[in-house]
Amino acid sequence: MKRIVLGVSAGIAAYKAALLLRLFKEAGHHVDVIPTIASLQFVGAATWEALSGNPVHTSVFEAVDTVNHVRLGQEADLVVIAPATADVLARAAAGMANDLLTGTLLATGAPVVMAPAMHTEMWEHPATVANVATLRSRGVHIIEPAVGRLTGKDSGAGRLPDPEEIFAAVSRYLEDEATSRSSGPGPLAGKIVAISAGGTREPLDPVRYLGNRSSGRQGIALAKAALAAGATVRFIAAHMDLPAPEGVELSTASTARQLQGAVTEAARGADVLIMSAAVADFRPAEYVDAKIKKSDDHADPVITLVRNPDILAMLIAQRAAEGRSGDLPPLVVGFAAETGDAEAGVLEYGAAKLARKGCEMLVVNEVGENLTFGTDENTVTILFADGAQPVHASGSKDLVAATVIDAVAGALGDG
Ligand SMILES: Cc1cc2nc3c(=O)[nH]c(=O)nc-3n(C[C@H](O)[C@H](O)[C@H](O)COP(=O)(O)O)c2cc1C
Repeated sequence: MKRIVLGVSAGIAAYKAALLLRLFKEAGHHVDVIPTIASLQFVGAATWEALSGNPVHTSVFEAVDTVNHVRLGQEADLVVIAPATADVLARAAAGMANDLLTGTLLATGAPVVMAPAMHTEMWEHPATVANVATLRSRGVHIIEPAVGRLTGKDSGAGRLPDPEEIFAAVSRYLEDEATSRSSGPGPLAGKIVAISAGGTREPLDPVRYLGNRSSGRQGIALAKAALAAGATVRFIAAHMDLPAPEGVELSTASTARQLQGAVTEAARGADVLIMSAAVADFRPAEYVDAKIKKSDDHADPVITLVRNPDILAMLIAQRAAEGRSGDLPPLVVGFAAETGDAEAGVLEYGAAKLARKGCEMLVVNEVGENLTFGTDENTVTILFADGAQPVHASGSKDLVAATVIDAVAGALGDG
């Protein structure tokens, strides 16, 4: 038996929470329902009191003698908010406590699961995307909304999954929590995660090279997030502006071809490979042993480029060739730094790349002069080969890393 706080906010799908409450009660849990004031427009307090068998309050100023605004959160084993409105996500992300539900979120040390539901436009709005990423980075487990019929005649992503699905997801989450508590400190305890980071350099002569703007910051953030989730991290660093994080098993590489060898070695026996390094697609056809000098005839030098190996595609092909007897990771996460153009947008290029490469997940980010490289911020969309809903994350590279690692843990859990 668990003590569950069921938060209900003012979405049209609030009625589904009544069925979810029933499922929790039938499973033997104690449930305290905390509706927001606005949600009482959809389902009244009497429904929640009758179905839960417990008193129901919405404001911190009701039943003040029981100090509900901290007590309910302190006593809870789990807080579930279904549906979670865009408004509740925003208030929770901002750390507000202007009603009993958001106050409870601040007072609780229990795991929090939220099932957002809203119109697709609201779900995809950058403000909501950022709020969801913030909540995820704080450990809130977000159940992705389903795609289907919305309040009006329209359809799209944003529908509250059926109560049975939420109940199953919450039950799975409770089991995973119990397992990870007994086997280690985080959802990746016992897992080996190989991560490549930084940017390759392709030498032209002893002093010059072709390189890229990657600083390694995103890869470092990923390594830290994976370590925090309990993983053993094999970190393959190409050129980076910062030192590798403490606690990783470090190997280094300079060129794309060196990186290919180091990545393949680190990936063997790992559970996950995350390829966040920016690898040069081309290298100078020839390496000139001595510094190329200005010629007396004032002719412009011509540098011929040849293609580098496609590390990601070759590793996937290798994995397929080795089959079940091989030890390359079952979960490979690629990164695609894309720029849109007149023919297609960043996500379209990303989706085409995911299909072409054959990896399980692709983290797509838009790059440009002042975007992504060398900055502390990143905006990405995680695409899944199994057709799962894309996940957006925007904010600090730590926050983006937490979202990617959360998705990795989810994918490993499903596998
Ligand atoms: C008919 C109707 C349906 C609504 N459905 C949703 C919804 O599904 N998701 C959402 O985020 N907001 C929805 N809203 C808007 C919220 O009710 C509104 O933002 C409210 O302030 C949220 O309050 P709360 O987050 O405190 O519960 C709906 C409003 C109406 C009138």
